[in-house]
Amino acid sequence: MSAQRVAIVTGAARGIGAGVAKRLASDGMAVAVLDLDAAHSQVVVDEITAAGGTALAVGADVSDEASVAAAVELVAEQLGAPTVLVNNAGIIRDNMLFKMSVDDWDAVMGVHLRGAFLLARATQSFMVKEKFGRIVNLSSTSAQGNRGQVNYSAAKAGMQGFTKTLALELGKFGVTANAIAPGFIETEMTHATAERMGVAFEDFEKAVASQTAVNRIGQPEDIAHTASYLCSAGAGFVSGQVIYVSGGPAD
Ligand SMILES: NC(=O)c1ccc[n+]([C@@H]2O[C@H](COP(=O)([O-])OP(=O)(O)OC[C@H]3O[C@@H](n4cnc5c(N)ncnc54)[C@H](O)[C@@H]3O)[C@@H](O)[C@H]2O)c1
Repeated sequence: MSAQRVAIVTGAARGIGAGVAKRLASDGMAVAVLDLDAAHSQVVVDEITAAGGTALAVGADVSDEASVAAAVELVAEQLGAPTVLVNNAGIIRDNMLFKMSVDDWDAVMGVHLRGAFLLARATQSFMVKEKFGRIVNLSSTSAQGNRGQVNYSAAKAGMQGFTKTLALELGKFGVTANAIAPGFIETEMTHATAERMGVAFEDFEKAVASQTAVNRIGQPEDIAHTASYLCSAGAGFVSGQVIYVSGGPAD
């Protein structure tokens, strides 16, 4: 039997990341549940271990170079060489362009783009050495443009170019890189958006569902299922792709 694969899922203390971490663990991987919120990462780890899986809570800020280096070193030491990476950590700092601060622009770029870059750079040597790797980056339907999200949509479009270049550079080492672009998924992020808009979540949900082909909003498990496929050994000929998981065609 081959050694257990080790995955790092960022922003995995809740929402989509927690869903992906649990799914990869049930697929048989040892999973590093990496998040700023280390205490809540531990809750996810406890759920995984209670279900018979292997996981480690790692507190780290993906936008900080030293924090990422220390986190990857810890994972390699405690779980083994990380050859699966899901760059999921994310924040929103929505505002119309004329009101957007430089801090809100930089914070969003820092977590999504700088974070994904730092994690990919810190883990690629393990993947190249093992001649196997799977990188999945979280983009969004907002990459196509979304009012009030000039920072976030630019970051999520950036994730797509980043993914395609990783695929080109790392393919010959057995490493694939793909992006998932979710539509509207029920998480604390989208609950917070509803609250900020002064709309009850149920009304928001109904409005979004009525404009979605499958007539519902998404759940973290919908994204976890796609991540599971892209991280599987059998998906080695799928690389540089952006999969819209949004309940309908593209966005
Ligand atoms: N929810 C949606 O509808 C939706 C749609 C498209 C894309 N996405 C993307 O999916 C990903 C997950 O979204 P979610 O809805 O689960 O969000 P969420 O806000 O529920 O969870 C994000 C997690 O990322 C962590 N995080 C934030 N900054 C971090 C940092 N600097 N270092 C480490 N961890 C950090 C947070 O602590 C949190 O646990 C994000 O990249 C988001 O942009 C979400």
